[in-house]
Amino acid sequence: MRVAVTGAFGYSGRYIAQRLLDAGHEVITLTNSPGRPNPFGERVRAHPFDFDQPERLCETLRGVEALINTYWVRFDHRLFTHEQAVANTKVMFDAAKRAGVRRIVHVSITRPDLQSDLPYFRCKAELEAALMRLGVSYCILRPTVLFGREDVLVNNIAWSLRHLPVFGVFGTGEYRLQPIHVDDLAAAAAEKAMSERDEVVEAIGPETFTYIGMARMIREALGVRRAIVRVPPWLGYALTRGLGVLVRDVVITREEIRGLMEGRLCVEAPPLGRTRLSEWVREHAQTLGRRYTSEMSRRVDRVSGYRSN
Ligand SMILES: NC(=O)c1ccc[n+]([C@@H]2O[C@H](COP(=O)([O-])OP(=O)(O)OC[C@H]3O[C@@H](n4cnc5c(N)ncnc54)[C@H](OP(=O)(O)O)[C@@H]3O)[C@@H](O)[C@H]2O)c1
Repeated sequence: MRVAVTGAFGYSGRYIAQRLLDAGHEVITLTNSPGRPNPFGERVRAHPFDFDQPERLCETLRGVEALINTYWVRFDHRLFTHEQAVANTKVMFDAAKRAGVRRIVHVSITRPDLQSDLPYFRCKAELEAALMRLGVSYCILRPTVLFGREDVLVNNIAWSLRHLPVFGVFGTGEYRLQPIHVDDLAAAAAEKAMSERDEVVEAIGPETFTYIGMARMIREALGVRRAIVRVPPWLGYALTRGLGVLVRDVVITREEIRGLMEGRLCVEAPPLGRTRLSEWVREHAQTLGRRYTSEMSRRVDRVSGYRSN
């Protein structure tokens, strides 16, 4: 089968492409960054997204049977916005339909919500609705936090525990999350591309942590003796803004803190992933958090590959 995967030189798209190749499929990728190192060589050809030239995008997708979409922006910024990502994704969905793509697997988020004032969750809900109306067979995968060697959040929690005098959690820290390993998500995405049933799948891992519990688990696995303290969310945000200046990144946004604290990264559903974050962190304790992973540098530098930790 010929499958198009977005962002195959990035994070989850790379694992998805690998899964598809391993299963014997032909893979192309749509990307903003054709100049990043291509880990697949001749086996995966890169094409630009061409959001501003829908006819070209349609041509690229001709002959493709399934499209797996990971494209998204993490937060609103002067260089990119959720609204733009929604408009672009709709262009891609329409182009796929016109090109005759018969199946779309779309990576969303847990608890998308049309009524939310958090743009991430509202815009994801808008896209899910657009896909359901499109008239192409679909599977929507709703992951919570991803973890893996190229990950940002878990790595940077580990980095903070290693390098900062104390680690602060926003508010009580009792809100929950169910991290899923990126390759477990990739396996599901590749499998769902072959199916025909319209479905929405909660893509959560086998363990549920409170945020403070996850920080304690990582601290223990790293073997560091760092105090973990509860701080008011506004203070936590102000401190991460300061840290952001030092590491030249957007460490976390106000909206992301709210999303976490509203428990949006936790749902009642059977686990899709099998890899346990606690075991994975122990296995990677030597390397995890040694270096800070910058979201912004991935967005600004479109030539380097994502570093693995
Ligand atoms: N990472 C997580 O913890 C997490 C948690 C929950 C849900 N998700 C969802 O999983 C999907 C994939 O996430 P990922 O972390 O694997 O993403 P990623 O590989 O870093 O990026 C996926 C695609 O989006 C493009 N992209 C990302 N940020 C962009 C920006 N600011 N401007 C323009 N293009 C941008 C990338 O561009 P290039 O082609 O240039 O690489 C790539 O094509 C997303 O839909 C996300 O909402 C992720």
